[in-house]
Amino acid sequence: MARERTFVMAKPDAVQRGLIGEIVSRIEERGLKLVGGKFMQIDDELARDHYGEHVDKPFFDDLTTFITSGPVFAMVWEGQDATRQVRQMMGETDPADAAPGTIRGDYALDLGRNVIHGSDHEDPGANEREIDLFFDEEELLDYERIDGEWLY
Ligand code: PPS
Repeated sequence: MARERTFVMAKPDAVQRGLIGEIVSRIEERGLKLVGGKFMQIDDELARDHYGEHVDKPFFDDLTTFITSGPVFAMVWEGQDATRQVRQMMGETDPADAAPGTIRGDYALDLGRNVIHGSDHEDPGANEREIDLFFDEEELLDYERIDGEWLY
């Protein structure tokens, strides 16, 4: 299984509720490696770019209004099968359907306030597109951890 990078974001509700550390901790303890992180405010243009594929959906305005409503913590994580593994840890998009033990299943109730975004593993290239949208190359750090010896 190839090592890859994936984009993850603690959404404004996660920031407001003090869940950044919990989200980072879960992904870090799973064994993925943090290669980029940015506490930032998303503007309307970035929100529209990021969620562009949903522009015709009835929830689009609610989604962009929410994601621009306060700071987010954007991250890039690296590891074996990282995109799919993070999606599994997140749980179903609608927290009402998310299994206990997943991030949404443990911390969210409402579809419009589902605490975390992760690149779609069923959309080839989504991870790279989202990383490029949020991060400059020099903001992503290439460094060695002991994973090679102890994890992979
Ligand atoms: S779809 O229709 O299946 O393509 O959409 P989906 O992948 O389920 O969701 C796309 C993103 O929109 C968010 N979403 C919503 N936000 C607010 N209100 C409603 N009703 C709603 N429905 C979906 C959903 O959380 C997805 O955002 P991300 O950031 O990818 O989780």
